[in-house]
Amino acid sequence: MDKNQPIGVIDSGVGGLSVLRALQKTMPHEKFLYLGDTARAPYGTRSRETITAFVAQMTDWLEQNGIKQLVTACNTITVLGTDVIRGAHTFPVIGMSKAAKEVLEATGNKHIGLMATDFTVGTGAHRREIQAADPSAQLFGVGCTKFVPLIEGNRFGSPELKEAINEYADALKAKEVDTVILGCTHYPFVREYLQEAFGPGVTIIDPAEATALQAKADLEARGLLRRSGKGSCTICFTGDVGLGKLLAERMLDPAACEFKQVKL
Ligand code: DGL
Repeated sequence: MDKNQPIGVIDSGVGGLSVLRALQKTMPHEKFLYLGDTARAPYGTRSRETITAFVAQMTDWLEQNGIKQLVTACNTITVLGTDVIRGAHTFPVIGMSKAAKEVLEATGNKHIGLMATDFTVGTGAHRREIQAADPSAQLFGVGCTKFVPLIEGNRFGSPELKEAINEYADALKAKEVDTVILGCTHYPFVREYLQEAFGPGVTIIDPAEATALQAKADLEARGLLRRSGKGSCTICFTGDVGLGKLLAERMLDPAACEFKQVKL
């Protein structure tokens, strides 16, 4: 492998762009190749078998495109387990951080909320990791099923989104959480609305930055980090590129990215 190969980044849709933003900030000289399966999002309500099959298609495509590292910028794929990434891939896989350290530093009353897909909440992966670090911490998970279709559909500011935000925030407020993990990479798209619904007393943690630091540490350890030269970013979607680009503008400078449609 050589350092000029791209870093592959995958998600079910546009959510992983919130992680791509953190990756670019942390590693500005890298070349990124993003693949969002927008034609088949959401993944979080699908079965383990279906998600596994979709992920295999994505990773095969990225392998053909010569990536040096894969970042699964999707909690659902991460908690499914990196071993589902089929074949003898040569690249290492960096999953989404659970941000246990950041969360435990932020919480005062140890009542922690997790907003994620049903799939992610159902695995208990965040609870296990946080309670391994502090057994007295309590984690309350809410499957926020309505968010991804509304975000992928560019329905920001719609009454449906407002209603969903209040519904999920109220469920966690009832548990008196003081810290909330955004356990789905789509949710940073609605972070401001969430902060408004929770109020200033609740700290929202986005694990994107911790994930980007892990990706950087892996490249450094393997001598594959680009330390100079211009970075680049190619964003591929399996669905409508016009809509994808519109949504990408909420996270990145679209002028600095190339957009493409791909068929898996
Ligand atoms: N953005 C994804 C995650 O972090 C997946 C959302 C979905 O497709 O349901 O879980």
